[in-house]
Amino acid sequence: MVILPDPGEANTWCARQGNQGLTMGFVPTMGALHAGHFSLLQRAARENDLCCASIFVNPLQFNDPNDLSAYPDTLEADIVALENHGCDMVFRGTLSTFFPEVDDHEKIRKLDPGPLAHGLEGSFRPGHLEGVVTIVDRLFRTVGNCRAYFGEKDYQQALVVRDLADALAEDNIFISVIICPTVRARNGLALSSRNLRLSDSDRNLSSALFRALVRGKHAWSSGIRSKEELETIVADCLAKPGIRVEYAAVRDPEDWTSNAEDLMAARGFVAAYVSGIRLIDTMAFGSDRMKPDSLQG
Ligand code: PAJ
Repeated sequence: MVILPDPGEANTWCARQGNQGLTMGFVPTMGALHAGHFSLLQRAARENDLCCASIFVNPLQFNDPNDLSAYPDTLEADIVALENHGCDMVFRGTLSTFFPEVDDHEKIRKLDPGPLAHGLEGSFRPGHLEGVVTIVDRLFRTVGNCRAYFGEKDYQQALVVRDLADALAEDNIFISVIICPTVRARNGLALSSRNLRLSDSDRNLSSALFRALVRGKHAWSSGIRSKEELETIVADCLAKPGIRVEYAAVRDPEDWTSNAEDLMAARGFVAAYVSGIRLIDTMAFGSDRMKPDSLQG
């Protein structure tokens, strides 16, 4: 596996592979890798001639400075794991190497993530999705034409990234965004780098996010279509001592900004704090007509 410290070198490496007609799978990450990341990587390796990953803890997307400083760093283990999962190249970078045109990080111009950033993460983490699309734009420009693999857990992120990929086609950069299922612990808790900071009892408690979504899914299966009723069912199931709920929302994944009282299709979204650590999760309630895989750009 080739390890490249900065995006300039990665760009040269990727362009060389592309010139030889090889297809590229790309998995952007912030490190502290776990089985969720590896599932993306394995798929990228399977579906392409070559696959690469990036590890960059992007300060632009952290609206909470404590979250950034506490973000786990397991770089050495990550490099070994990437190699073991069939990664051909990993690159890193710094704000200075990703944005060489500015001399002061404060001057980095943040991109607009568009209408899909309204609500949910867009409301509760101001600036977060702006920070995500700003760095992912640079990551995509570094790698160039590729299939890029994202996790369903960060569903709204994947939606705004798909819009970004559509926009990049105007610059002749062609990226297919492929959304892959959430990998979970045995108790249902969605794997996340932040779980490293949870105690064993916190992890047990945190599985309530998954159980609340399953409850919502059952309610949908039993015929409940009212958005409000579904949201109440999910919220009630999450209301436990030790869990500070930020949102329990149900949306039509095909009509993101709909205000309809009854839903045609539904997906549940939850965000909550356990011991000060912010966790999110999502689940399709019905047969999502917009299946994750069909989101290829
Ligand atoms: P990070 O949190 O490291 O996640 C990298 C990718 O792994 C994302 O696409 C995320 O959705 C996916 N992922 C995380 N947990 C997962 C799980 N349990 N199952 C399946 N996939 C999972 O998301 C980011 O980094 C950053 O915002 C990034 C896109 C790299 C931009 O900085």
